[in-house]
Amino acid sequence: MVTSKEHIINAHKAIGVIDSGVGGLTVVKELSRRLPHESVVYFGDTARMPYGPRPMEEVRRFVFEMIEFLQHQEIKLVVVACNSATAAGLSYYQQVCEEPVLGVIEPGVRAAIAHSRKQRIGVIGTTGTIGSSEYVKALHRHNRSLYVISKACPLFVLLVENNLVETPEARKVAHEYLDPMSSENIDTLILGCTHYPLMADLLQEVVGTSVKLINSAEEIVTEVETILDNSGQANPLNNNNTRYRFFVSGNPRSFEEVGVKMLQREIKAYQVLL
Ligand code: DGL
Repeated sequence: MVTSKEHIINAHKAIGVIDSGVGGLTVVKELSRRLPHESVVYFGDTARMPYGPRPMEEVRRFVFEMIEFLQHQEIKLVVVACNSATAAGLSYYQQVCEEPVLGVIEPGVRAAIAHSRKQRIGVIGTTGTIGSSEYVKALHRHNRSLYVISKACPLFVLLVENNLVETPEARKVAHEYLDPMSSENIDTLILGCTHYPLMADLLQEVVGTSVKLINSAEEIVTEVETILDNSGQANPLNNNNTRYRFFVSGNPRSFEEVGVKMLQREIKAYQVLL
């Protein structure tokens, strides 16, 4: 049982966020917008991304290494911002960590179910995430009669990483992946990969405005807020010591470049070899 003194100490600790690369910054952006009084420590495994095509066991090992690193950085909670890493073994991470560990799949699923009127939901993600069927299983755990269509869209990560989202090729690829989903008459599409919110405008145009896009980065922050509030571990609103720290396994400069664009603020990243 956590005493109130421990609550206060924990409240001042940071929220740990991990991802295979830059994509988890979509979660950091949302955290800074909605919970500006919370500190964040981020690890992006940029040297070993993408995780999508890797065997799950390997992804789990990489995730453990990042969590172990964050545990030395005074954290009160871990957000696994990467869908592929969540699909590879959220319950394993939860078993070995004393801090609460949250994944992006369940919050996205709950939001999709809340939005879908026709009960026809699409899910897109990396090969690993879609191959694991974790989204489909989670959707059906909530409602067995949902119609779910899922599709691995591996080229989307490459388009985002290489800044090619606004090209005719990207539009063509998006149509190839998504037109079969649109013809299934879905009304909700879960963006089951951290990179996809970065191409949301194109995706929305391709599937049409009648389809609601679910951004798991937004949904997970609602869950973080609830857990911190309910456990008395939210940082006090008058906290003026909010700190953002960024660690990467690859080149910190290229991470900083993307980070500045995404977060609209200067950031400093440090390289850590895992
Ligand atoms: N972060 C990953 C995810 O959300 C996408 C990039 C990768 O394959 O590592 O699934």
